[in-house]
Amino acid sequence: MYSEKVMEHFQNPRNVGELENASGVGTVGNAKCGDIMRIYFDIDENQVIRDVKFKTFGCGAAVATSSMATELVKGKTIYEALEVTNKAVMEALDGLPPVKVHCSLLAEEAIHAALWDYCEKTGIKIEGLTKPKSDIGEEEEEEDY
Ligand code: FES
Repeated sequence: MYSEKVMEHFQNPRNVGELENASGVGTVGNAKCGDIMRIYFDIDENQVIRDVKFKTFGCGAAVATSSMATELVKGKTIYEALEVTNKAVMEALDGLPPVKVHCSLLAEEAIHAALWDYCEKTGIKIEGLTKPKSDIGEEEEEEDY
């Protein structure tokens, strides 16, 4: 049911972790299943994404798409990163089963949320970037469970 690339990225996800002093952080939740992804960008003075890390609390398809998405945005400018859509990520993974397509949205939305965070911090504008709806922000994290 899954392509070899999906399985490979699920088993060996790239760029897992966190970045201290990240230039932009985006956290999003998937409305359908409640899974969560957070992405960290280190963006240099030329607006190139120098480093990227992610954490995904979600299904295998979410992990694989997050992993591939980080590979696709690394080394790109903030403007090019906007073109890393869930469709582009799925294509790079040789497709996903139809019931798992929603999982790939997590990565795209997290990229947008992190770019938005960067723009807010720096005052830079990215044409076509809109405020992420599902950024669940930092507040939730600080709550005691
Ligand atoms: Fe939740 Fe895949 S089932 S992201």
